Amino acid sequence: MSNKQSPEWVPLKARKVSFAWDGTPLHWVPGDPFTSHTVNVLHLLLPAGERWFVHVYKQVLPYVRDERLREDVLGFIGQEAMHSQAHDEVLPHLRELGLDPTPYTAQVDWLFEKLLGDRTLPPGAARRWWLMERVALIAAIEHYTAFLGDWVLNAGELDRRGADPTMLDLLRWHGAEEVEHRSVAFDLFQHVDGSYRRRVRTWATAFTALVFLWQRGARFFMANDPTLLDGRARFRDFHVRGRLGTLPATGDVLRSVPRYLSRTYHPSQEGSTEQAVAYLASSPAARAAERADRGGQHGRSEKETA
Ligand SMILES: [Fe+2]
Ligand SMILES: [Fe+2]
Repeated sequence: MSNKQSPEWVPLKARKVSFAWDGTPLHWVPGDPFTSHTVNVLHLLLPAGERWFVHVYKQVLPYVRDERLREDVLGFIGQEAMHSQAHDEVLPHLRELGLDPTPYTAQVDWLFEKLLGDRTLPPGAARRWWLMERVALIAAIEHYTAFLGDWVLNAGELDRRGADPTMLDLLRWHGAEEVEHRSVAFDLFQHVDGSYRRRVRTWATAFTALVFLWQRGARFFMANDPTLLDGRARFRDFHVRGRLGTLPATGDVLRSVPRYLSRTYHPSQEGSTEQAVAYLASSPAARAAERADRGGQHGRSEKETA
């Protein structure tokens, strides 16, 4: 089922947002470096990760035989390119606050550009196999980006604890677009391949890699945070934050696994498009982007009539 066939279908458009980071503190959840840094891992993984999504999807576009799905994939590409850029723009601010992410991002860049990049494969079956493997990997990762998007839209505990409004808006704008386009990667995978064995295999790879990269990223930030004497990140810290509601609950993460592996799974069963669209209508960054976009169009039409 393509996104457009779903009753909740909305056309996907990239919103050209921008954020001013000058006022955002290093511990943007006040008094909670662990939560701040666990979420900050997104800024380490997503710039290279979402650039890679775009790179792979440009290669798979010629295999898409359904016009509506093609439109969804193009909308998805536009949104992910913008997400990648927005998270990348947080990194210089972290550097200014004394936390240089380069040693970690260099490894992430290598992972996506070399290990998961285009291998020198002969045209034909091997090249197609590697492309389908990566399309399936993206579908599995998108199960988790939608999960996290839905989580952050509902994480009222972050507001109650006075989390930085700019960071919250970045996370919720991104999270809302993840919920909005949550069916595209899965529909694309089903359209071009859809093998259940491949879905299970690539889920296992994606889940293992995400857990590994996330705990390493959180440890990296905690160990290099210039304000902490003995910064550590343990699984227990994550579990406790999950119970408090400042991070996803361990049980919710585990329960999401059999859902993705169910033969009746479809991402439209997860999250709420209505909630995502409502957030995007109120997000300060998305509204500013909308105004700038309208201003630009207005300026262009005035020039054309002049
Ligand atoms: Fe994204
Ligand atoms: Fe996404």
